[in-house]
Amino acid sequence: MKTVLITGGAGFIGSNYVRYALQTHDDWRVVVYDKLTYAGNLDNLRDVAEAYKDRYIFVRGDIADREAVVGAVRAHDVGTIINFAADTHVDRSLMEPGSFIMTDVYGTYVLLEVARELKLERYHQVSTDEVYGQVLTGRSTEEDKLHTRSPYSASKAGGDLMCMAYYTSFGVPVTITRGSNNIGPYQYPEKAVPLFVTNAIDDIPLPLYGDGRQQRDYQFVLDHCEGIDVVVEKGQLGEVYNVGSGTETANIDMTHAILDLLGKPYSLIQPVTDRPGHDRRYALDTSKVRQLGWSNRHSFEQAIEQTVRWYVDNAWWWRKLKTGEYLAYYKRQYAGREVKE
Ligand code: NAD
Ligand code: DAU
Repeated sequence: MKTVLITGGAGFIGSNYVRYALQTHDDWRVVVYDKLTYAGNLDNLRDVAEAYKDRYIFVRGDIADREAVVGAVRAHDVGTIINFAADTHVDRSLMEPGSFIMTDVYGTYVLLEVARELKLERYHQVSTDEVYGQVLTGRSTEEDKLHTRSPYSASKAGGDLMCMAYYTSFGVPVTITRGSNNIGPYQYPEKAVPLFVTNAIDDIPLPLYGDGRQQRDYQFVLDHCEGIDVVVEKGQLGEVYNVGSGTETANIDMTHAILDLLGKPYSLIQPVTDRPGHDRRYALDTSKVRQLGWSNRHSFEQAIEQTVRWYVDNAWWWRKLKTGEYLAYYKRQYAGREVKE
């Protein structure tokens, strides 16, 4: 049995990866280590906790707390860390950048220190295409310069650079993946796709930033999980791998697709003032991960269709999240931003 510590495993991508990993690797024991911030949710792992009682353990903790991380690694004889834990929402990073630096930079440093001190077999960092900044034409390769423009992307880039420094200076066995936008089950409904789907279900306006012509590579979360898994299994130490579908979609087209799937009118779209410093386009060159044998299984149309269906079928999951702190955040984020057409 190999024991893998999955930090941030109670979040959106982390929980999808935990489920995928337990299904795929019979010889893995998974320890989820998660602080349970507003974005962490044990409902995301309810079925996992039930189905894998013998190979799944949950530990509540902060990745920036070195003693707690060392305690969890020692207590469960962990050999590999896969780090999903992060503050992840660009809009929140514009409001309060401090916690992004604490988790995404300092927390990554703490995990790397633990990997170094306890001589772990492997450390994998889950990163993002946002570290390349906006690419108006062409595609970002792993060799491109980092050109971050938001506190979120700057913090993620800080984490990536620390990983490379620990590989180069101390020989910590590191790999990094940089994924494009994920969509699918269990995504906290502050991100554009789950926000728009759940608002549309309830006939609440969909706040579309600026002209809606910004482009993102919306990939299905399980494709991303498979990409991470391939790199954890076959990636070369000290290397970065981009993971994305390779197809970009404008936000307005993503919004129309959601409304069409739900049979709702386009009049629900409410243009709002743009996000400050909004990156216009991300696009990844994914040939390097494809050389490891990975390819995405879902087109944008399949991904958005499965995603919409999941939120329609799982209102029990998201309806209780759209209360309390969420509503306060929503008001702070969107009130007074409506743009008359
Ligand atoms: P998420 O916000 O849904 O979940 C983050 C998880 O990390 C939560 O469970 C939260 O409780 C936990 N966490 C936050 N701070 C922590 C801390 N200090 N200690 C321990 N746990 C902490 O995020 P997500 O969308 O699932 O993203 C997961 C990872 O993938 C992040 O590193 C993110 O940068 C990266 N990523 C996300 C996307 C995307 O489209 N969502 C794309 C590419 C890369
Ligand atoms: O590219 C990968 C990144 O994708 C991840 O690293 C981030 O963690 C993840 O949050 C996501 O970042 P984005 O900023 O691209 O995702 P978000 O869902 O916030 O926004 C997607 C697009 O939709 C973006 O162009 C902004 C726009 N948008 C977003 C919101 C929340 C709107 O038009 N209206 C909105 O209300």
